[in-house]
Amino acid sequence: MASKLGEYRDTPGKKSQEIKEDLFKYESGGTFWRVTYDSPNKIPVFERMKGTRVWDVDGNEYIDTYGQFAASCLGHAPEELISEVIDQMKTLMHISDMPNIPRAKLVKELAGIGPGEMKKDAKVQFEIGGSAAIELAIQIAESYTPHPQHDFISFFGAYHGRTTGALTVAPNVYFRDGMPSMANRVTRIPYAYCYRCYYDMKYPSCNMYCVKHLKRMFESPEFGIYDPKTKTNFISTLIVEPAQFHTGGIFPPKEFMQGLREICDEFGIVMIDDEIAIGMGRSGKWFCIEHYDVTPDLVVTSKALSGGIWPLSAVIGKSEVMSVWDDKPDKHMGTWHGNAVGCRAALTVIDQIKKRNLLKRNEEMGNYFLDGLKQLQKRHEMIGDVQGIGLGLSLELVRDRKTKEPAEPETIEVLKKALDYGVLICRAAYYGNRMTFMPAYIIEKSEIDTILDIVDRCIDSIEKKG
Ligand SMILES: Cc1ncc(COP(=O)(O)O)c(C=O)c1O
Repeated sequence: MASKLGEYRDTPGKKSQEIKEDLFKYESGGTFWRVTYDSPNKIPVFERMKGTRVWDVDGNEYIDTYGQFAASCLGHAPEELISEVIDQMKTLMHISDMPNIPRAKLVKELAGIGPGEMKKDAKVQFEIGGSAAIELAIQIAESYTPHPQHDFISFFGAYHGRTTGALTVAPNVYFRDGMPSMANRVTRIPYAYCYRCYYDMKYPSCNMYCVKHLKRMFESPEFGIYDPKTKTNFISTLIVEPAQFHTGGIFPPKEFMQGLREICDEFGIVMIDDEIAIGMGRSGKWFCIEHYDVTPDLVVTSKALSGGIWPLSAVIGKSEVMSVWDDKPDKHMGTWHGNAVGCRAALTVIDQIKKRNLLKRNEEMGNYFLDGLKQLQKRHEMIGDVQGIGLGLSLELVRDRKTKEPAEPETIEVLKKALDYGVLICRAAYYGNRMTFMPAYIIEKSEIDTILDIVDRCIDSIEKKG
C-alpha cells in the first residue's frame, strides 16, 4: 500500500528492491546513491516528482528537503521552466559553443547580478556542471597571476567537485585516494567551523585567530607560501565557499570572509567564491557572499542556475581578471558551452526569481525554518548546533552537548526514520552527524511545519531509545 507524506512505510518497497537489482548487477560501484543512508539498501527508486514532492515506484510520497543537491530551486518539474525549455528545443537546441540569443541575454543578466562591486563591471564564461566550472575558475586565476604564483589555498571541509582540479584543491583524503592530482601545491587551512573550532577557541573572543594564523603564514619562507624578504608570493588562488554544505551547512562569521578578502588584496591573490551549492538566491541574496559584504574576484555558480532541468555552470568575475584570455581565443572551448537550452533555462530561473520576489521569500521562509530548528534544539539535548541563512540550513546531533561527541549512528537512524515517514533529508558533516536542508524556493510554511514535526518525532524516538 502506498503511503502519503507523514504515514509510515518500510522503505524500500518491493518494486524498488526489484528495480535496484539491475543497478546492483550492471552499474559499477562508487556511485553516491550507494552511501545514502549509510548503505545501498535503504534508498528507494524514484519515479516521478512535482513541486516539493517526489514519489517512489511503490507509490510512496516524500517531501524533498534538499532540492536535489540544491539544484531544483523552482521545485520539481516547474511548468514555466519546462515550457520555456521545450520552446527553446524546438527553436534552436544545440549549436556548439556558438553565439545564440539566450547565451547573449544570459551573460548580460549574470554580469548584472554578480556579488557586490563585481556587478559594476563583470564578465562571464560558461561550463557544464559545478566541477568543470571550478576547473575553469582556477584556470582563469592561474592565467591571471604572474609566475611564481601557481599554488592554492583551500579549506578543511571544502568540497569543489570530483574532476582532477577540483579534487586537488579540496581536502577529503577518501575522495583523493588513488586519484590523479594537479602538480600545483595546495595549502589547506581550517575553515571557521566555530561550533568545533579547530583551535579550540570561542567566537568572538578568538578575535578570528584562524584568519590571523593564515596571515602569519606570510611572515617567513619557512611557512611555504611567501618570502617576505623578496616579496615572492607563491599563491595564485584562494578558493572558499561562503557556507560549506558538503560538510554539513557550516556558515562562518562575517569577519572570516572579510579577513580572507584583506589577505587576498594584500598579496595579489585571486579569491574564488564557490557558490555552486548556496548561490542563485537561496540565501535571500543572489550570492551568499553578499551577506558578508565581500566582493570576490570570481564567483562560480551552477545547480540552481538552471533549475535542475539542464546542466549549466558559469564563472562570473571582475572584468579585469576575466579579460585574461581576451587576446587568446579558443583558450576555453567545449561542445556544450553556452548551450541555448541551458541558457534559456537559466534565464527562466532568473526571471521567476525576480517576478515572484523569491529572494525576499527565501529570506522569510528561511527565518521561519531556522526559528523552527531552534525550537527543536530547545527540546532536544541531542541537537548541539543549528545554523542557516535563507533556505540553506543545518543541524548537528551530538551525544553530549558539553563534550560534543558526534552522534553519527544516531543521525543515520533519524534520517532512516524520517525517510520511512516520507521526508528526504541529506546527511553531510566532518563527523557524519549533520543534516542539511536546501528545499525548493517554493516551499510553504505548512510544509516546513510538517518537516519539523517529523524530524522532532524521529529525534524523540532515538533519544528515548537512549
Ligand atoms: C560547493 C560545491 N562545489 C562544487 C560542486 C561540484 O558540482 P558538480 O557535482 O555539479 O560537479 C558541488 C556539488 O555538490 C558543491 O556543492
